[in-house]
Order: sequence, then C-alpha cells, then structure tokens
Amino acid sequence: NHKAFIFDLDGVIVDTAKFHFLAWRKLANDLGFDFTEEQNEQLKGVSRVESLKKILKWGNMELSEEEFNRQMALKNENYLSYVEEMDDAEILPGVPKVLNYLIENKIPFALGSASKNARTILKKIDLYEKFDAIVDGTDVSKAKPDPEVFLIAAEKLNAEPHNCVVFEDSVAGVQAANIGKMTSIGIGDEKVLNEADYVFTDFTEIEIEFIEKLLRNQK
Ligand code: BG6
Ligand code: MG
Repeated sequence: NHKAFIFDLDGVIVDTAKFHFLAWRKLANDLGFDFTEEQNEQLKGVSRVESLKKILKWGNMELSEEEFNRQMALKNENYLSYVEEMDDAEILPGVPKVLNYLIENKIPFALGSASKNARTILKKIDLYEKFDAIVDGTDVSKAKPDPEVFLIAAEKLNAEPHNCVVFEDSVAGVQAANIGKMTSIGIGDEKVLNEADYVFTDFTEIEIEFIEKLLRNQK
C-alpha cells in the first residue's frame, strides 16, 4: 500500500489563523469581553460552531439560537473580508517546495480542513487544482479531534491510515491524526504541539530528506 499526505489549511498552508483570531476577537470585544492568544490556541482546528461555544463560555455569556447564528455569520463576514485580499503570496514559506516534490514524485496528497471556506481560499491562492482530494468543513459532521476529516481524506486517496502523514498547526488536529493512527507532524510551537510525532516551527525547517524518510517509514 502507498503513502499519502494530508495537509490542514489554516495555519499550515496559509496563515489565516491570524485572520480567524482577529475576527473572533472582534466578536468578543463587540459582546463586551476579550480573550488571550493563549486561549486562541484552543480555537485552532475547531469548527465555527464549537469555537463560538468556547468563546461564549470564556465571556460567561449565553445567546439565543437566533443571536448565536447571527454572531457566527457576522464573524464569517468579517473573516472573509480578510480572505478577499489574499493571493498566492500568502502561501507560507517552504510549502511550495514540499508540494512540488510530492507532485513530481506522484505522491497523492489531500486537504483535511475544518473550514467551510477552504475551497474559496485554495482558489484564491491558486492551489485548488493541485490537491488530489479536498475534505473540508462542508464534508464532515464531527469536528477535530475526531479523526473523521482525515479518515475521509485517506479513503479518497485510497491510502491506509497508517500510511498517511498529516501536517497540522492545532492541538485538536494533531490529536485527530493520532487517533486516526496516522503520522502527525506539528507545525508551530513544540511546547503546544508536544503530542505530535514530529514538530517543526514552519515548513522552511522541513528538508526533502525528511519527506523521503517519511516515505520509507511506518508509524
Ligand atoms: C479551522 C481553523 O481550520 O477552521 C479554525 O483552524 C476555524 O480557526 C475552523 O474556526 C472553521 O473555519 P470556517 O472558515 O468554516 O469558519
Ligand atoms: Mg489549522
């Protein structure tokens, strides 16, 4: 059976994590409270609904269903105003090198994102056509750390989970990969992502030799 790679989007391929943070923080501020960057780590990889639930808990607030949905829509509108400005210059350094290696060597790779905006973003940064499969927030019913999004991606790539390598910037995403019995590569702070099999600060630290090693190894 063959190897396959699965990439998270926000915070891995592009730095949209900062836009999510700005938009959620504005929502909290408009409701009269604030939260920290450390708390924000808990929102990474988490679906839109689950994120708002967490934030409201931090602010000790409850909203009616109607107001909850209105706030989610406002947050998304605000977030999309940042996305609107994006182009391929937003692809994080080192990412093209790895993707091009996979393409040249015909190693299949998929997107595995919690975001319902993933397809829009991939089109904006001109990567939509490059992925062999795309699984995003519109395709799944269970949020990370549930491994559903990665298991569907593996299936679409015709790969066994233990032959899949997942790149993730979130704690929830690393846990999802581990629960799915996949190799997990954390992108970010190694103290935050200590559950990952390997951690790199960013893709510029990842050498092609490391990718080749992953292609030989089993978890
Ligand atoms: C994840 C992000 O990729 O997608 C989260 O890390 C975000 O911050 C989630 O909340 C859902 O995204 P969206 O675009 O559907 O609101
Ligand atoms: Mg992410």
